[in-house]
Amino acid sequence: MTAYAALLEKLPAQPKTWLITGVAGFIGCNLLETLLKLEQTVVGLDNFATGHRHNLHQIQKAVTPEQWARFRFIEGDIRVQADCRKACAGVDYVLHQAALGSVPRSLEDPITTNGANIDGFLNMLVAARDAKVARFVYAASSSTYGDHPGLPKVEEVIGKPLSPYAVTKLVNEQYAEVFARAYGFKTIGLRYFNIFGAHQDPEGAYAAVVPKWTAAMIHNEPVYINGDGETSRDFCYIANTVQANLLAATAEHPDAANQVYNVAVGDRTTLNDLFEAIRATLEPRFPHLKGFKPIYRDFRAGDVRHSLADIGKARTLLGYAPSHRIREGLVEAMDWYVNDLSGRGGR
Ligand SMILES: NC(=O)c1ccc[n+]([C@@H]2O[C@H](COP(=O)([O-])OP(=O)(O)OC[C@H]3O[C@@H](n4cnc5c(N)ncnc54)[C@H](O)[C@@H]3O)[C@@H](O)[C@H]2O)c1
Repeated sequence: MTAYAALLEKLPAQPKTWLITGVAGFIGCNLLETLLKLEQTVVGLDNFATGHRHNLHQIQKAVTPEQWARFRFIEGDIRVQADCRKACAGVDYVLHQAALGSVPRSLEDPITTNGANIDGFLNMLVAARDAKVARFVYAASSSTYGDHPGLPKVEEVIGKPLSPYAVTKLVNEQYAEVFARAYGFKTIGLRYFNIFGAHQDPEGAYAAVVPKWTAAMIHNEPVYINGDGETSRDFCYIANTVQANLLAATAEHPDAANQVYNVAVGDRTTLNDLFEAIRATLEPRFPHLKGFKPIYRDFRAGDVRHSLADIGKARTLLGYAPSHRIREGLVEAMDWYVNDLSGRGGR
């Protein structure tokens, strides 16, 4: 039995109280759904900067009324210390997801990104420390590898940040380490690679590639590839990400805490391969995609050329074992993409 299978069996009998910040966002609402289905009590904090009420409505429909009654939502801002303290009261584990994602957004508006990602992060650390939560798990990022060319990426070897966003995620790790040293506070950083799955926002200038391309293909609109399409990423399905969070919060290995871990699959997929995987998954339902081709344009500023994770550390210390590779994730998410994205009409 995997460590995660054992945890899924154990948790319903030992309910805990979890705080998910960024609960109305993509990763946050997926964490919410899994935890409620495991009969846990959940507090959620979000200011809807990039998250959506409809994500919460969809989770409400996916769980029972009894499970939903164990969820308490606080509309608030991690940049406000009082909101963080209110959210952390009585909590066992924090899963801190709230931040402003996107490298291009941070290049255009570094001050706003800094406010949520560094000031907000520090507010959350202080509030969680003072509330004596057992563990603080936070969303770090593969962008921390910056300009280091080595592949696969191992946690201990990083380069210089290439964007304000990457600076904020690096500073998060540094603050977490200092809080461990100075206050004996237990944290775990999860360096997410490119996560995809249901509830990921396809709209707006800063949308992630999988939902953006999927929506465009469904609506028979152009799909743009930045560069030659040979840029590669380690695309990670949301179920693997949820697994990593739950294992990190509860890991008992004596060396597990106060570390950062890659959260990915350990597979390298080029943008050209990704395009074809999405196209082929959609084609049976959308025959117009037979022979559909992308349009190539310039490389995007701040993007790294290749990204691929070594996930050995998470395997060893957390018992992490990804359940989905990219095509399995695309197939599982396809119903959501089709139901949710077809209803929105063309953009
Ligand atoms: N999705 C990925 O591929 C990926 C990769 C690396 C790291 N991450 C990190 O994972 C976390 C979650 O990302 P996501 O993809 O779910 O993004 P998302 O934008 O869907 O979710 C982020 C949530 O945080 C909320 N939020 C933002 N600022 C806030 C504030 N000041 N106060 C309260 N709530 C606030 C937003 O409203 C949103 O609901 C982020 O920290 C992001 O940097 C994501």
